[in-house]
Amino acid sequence: MRTPTRTPVLAPTLIVHGGAWAIPAEMADDHQRGVSRALETGYAVLTKGGTATDAVEAAVTILEDDPTFDAGLGSFLTSSGRVQLDALLMDGATLRAGGVACVERLRNPIQAARLVLDKSPHVYFVGSGAEAFAANHGMSLIDNSALVLERERLRLHEFQERLAQGLADTTFSGDDKDPETAASHLSSHDTVGAVALDQHGNLAAGTSTGGTLNKTPGRVGDSSLIGCGCYADNHSAAVSLTGWGEPIMKLVLGKWATDRVASGVTPELAAQQAISYLFARLGGHGGIILLGPDGQFGLAHNTPCMAWGIADKDGPRTGLSI
Ligand code: GLY
Repeated sequence: MRTPTRTPVLAPTLIVHGGAWAIPAEMADDHQRGVSRALETGYAVLTKGGTATDAVEAAVTILEDDPTFDAGLGSFLTSSGRVQLDALLMDGATLRAGGVACVERLRNPIQAARLVLDKSPHVYFVGSGAEAFAANHGMSLIDNSALVLERERLRLHEFQERLAQGLADTTFSGDDKDPETAASHLSSHDTVGAVALDQHGNLAAGTSTGGTLNKTPGRVGDSSLIGCGCYADNHSAAVSLTGWGEPIMKLVLGKWATDRVASGVTPELAAQQAISYLFARLGGHGGIILLGPDGQFGLAHNTPCMAWGIADKDGPRTGLSI
């Protein structure tokens, strides 16, 4: 009798991030706790045999529900005082992807992105169309005020006061090579994301954000744009980025990084190269997590901090800088 062939079972890996910026000391514990909880929840999915896509969705959902981060509840506000959310989820085995942008009535945009990935022939929905699609597939629509925190109303008010006094810059588009002026813009990079490799060797990536403080309503950043703030392909790597979106979008930086891995560069080096390129080409700031199909990974940022967590065969660990 022939021995049946088995699909090899690999040690799974999950990496999460909770934004890259000048995280103040008094917020450090909240960031570490947040990424730790996301890691625990997502990794439990992987160890039970769940898919990379399931694990990424679970981890990002935890980060969206945590008011520490600029995603889901407690996100930065638009110039008109509302929360507008963007998210993308991508399955590296099939290249199926689901994206939503400018949604105001969904508590967990990453779950709406999952519905797009699973249930639609399309890849991307925006605004009320995205909300209607999610509602038609069973998601609850909430009032936007349920996502708005008093902390964020105050932050927006203070920012708009500074604008009125000429002390803040409305023209900033994320590119600034001067460290002094760049530092004044580094307070808004709490986008969250996750990349995973499951026991079957499949990759997935997800990124979710409330975008930048005082953004013009309707503005979409890099996070939910395929190949910009998020990408996954079993033939190259899975990636999630955080940082000011405009420079990341202009460089299609997620795909840039995964293409490097496909060409033989290690994820560790490709992550460093991506962040160096972001700064050298456009003066951009941010962070990246990058995971290859063999479990090799890379993390990099050029901001003072990046909240990160990794769980793999060596156990879970978290940190605030690389
Ligand atoms: N990286 C998030 C944004 O710029 O919207």
